[in-house]
Amino acid sequence: MEKLYPDSGVELSPAISKNYDKLMNIASFGLYKSFIKKAISHLEIKQNDEILDLGCGTGRNILLMNKYVSNKSLLFGLDISEEMEKQFMKNCKDFSNLKFINKRIDKPFELDRKFDKIFISFVIHGFPHEIRKKVIQNAYNHLKPGGTFNILDFAEFDMAQMPFHHRFIFKAIECKYAFDFIERDWQNILTEYGFINFEEKFYLKHYVRLLKAEKK
Ligand SMILES: C[S@@+](CC[C@H](N)C(=O)[O-])C[C@H]1O[C@@H](n2cnc3c(N)ncnc32)[C@H](O)[C@@H]1O
Repeated sequence: MEKLYPDSGVELSPAISKNYDKLMNIASFGLYKSFIKKAISHLEIKQNDEILDLGCGTGRNILLMNKYVSNKSLLFGLDISEEMEKQFMKNCKDFSNLKFINKRIDKPFELDRKFDKIFISFVIHGFPHEIRKKVIQNAYNHLKPGGTFNILDFAEFDMAQMPFHHRFIFKAIECKYAFDFIERDWQNILTEYGFINFEEKFYLKHYVRLLKAEKK
């Protein structure tokens, strides 16, 4: 697949996509599994929630969300990677309420429904800022009033304050867009789109944050 944003670290190669979950376990020194479980528990998913996962990857996160909903609640994952689609279909094959849709999240798209929750995990930091705005607008358009947009991604932090070994790892693995992502005020940005009532949870030494924002 051709990259639209050559400096992006979230438009993954087929080789990385194929091994994505394993690589995340290694890169997080084995902490990923317990961290993602905890973050998803903080979404406070209700039994009847319908959820959209933007850039859903292998389906790992949607399977965790599925533990909180009834088998009638539809959970949709959007992604553009064929490798991710194959893994999603295999991982989620036992659950007919889990749906994969091959769609770009950075262009306007139509789905025939609105959602109670929209989740996006480790995707939005990897786009140029102008493109992030399109993703936010798409999320806003696809939420029910009172629904929440949930961004699990890097928190806002100052690289100069990081211990050397953390800075070294961040610089080594992250793409150039992540460096400006951590410097922006995301509550302010989301407020401009009409989001209200923010809540935050922090993980992994405060480098990662779940930011919840409600649609008016
Ligand atoms: C870093 S991975 C994160 C995957 C998943 N959200 C997770 O937390 O495990 C980024 C994902 O975003 C997808 N992606 C990148 N650009 C996209 C786009 N424009 N539209 C939809 N998905 C995209 C990639 O294929 C990949 O699955």
